[in-house]
Amino acid sequence: MFTVNNNVLAFLLLLLIGLSAQLQASDNTIQVNKAEQGSLKSVMQGLLTATQALTAAVLTEDFVMIEKAAKNIADHPKPSMATRMKLMKAMAADMTKFKANDDVVHHAAVNMVKNAQQQNIKLITDDFQKMIGGCIACHSEFKSKVSVILK
Ligand code: HEC
Repeated sequence: MFTVNNNVLAFLLLLLIGLSAQLQASDNTIQVNKAEQGSLKSVMQGLLTATQALTAAVLTEDFVMIEKAAKNIADHPKPSMATRMKLMKAMAADMTKFKANDDVVHHAAVNMVKNAQQQNIKLITDDFQKMIGGCIACHSEFKSKVSVILK
């Protein structure tokens, strides 16, 4: 008769739980169609990935990850020169406002890097909220308009 010892059973059970947790995690990940390199969309998709990592790190108070993810946001790549030219031409006077939103996100991210090194979760949380506020403020004012310009 074929017998399975308890350790093997426990191991298999853990494996199954692990697998289903992984499947669930991939279901909960927001999927976007990969944007063209150098486009503003591809920059934004990078920001989304970094923000997802940052959110998890802030909530688990993982200062190493906070520093890393915040640094990715602070030093995010710029869209290509061609994209920036198109944007500047179409936005004209609005460009200052657009840039101001970008600065809010940038400064908050720089502060989070610094405060992660100090392991100060209170200050990090304040800047995290400011940063998300910056993402949302720019989207509500410019996202659909710019989306049309860059299409
Ligand atoms: C200065 C303005 C501005 C700021 C700040 C900003 N965004 Fe965006 N975001 C845009 C614009 C404009 C688009 C639309 C781009 C397009 O459709 O070509 C966009 C689109 C996106 C998209 C959709 C990408 C896609 O594939 O359709 C995501 C995700 C995103 N932003 C995430 C973020 C996150 C996260 C932050 C903050 C960390 C952020 N954005 C901050 C202007 C901004």
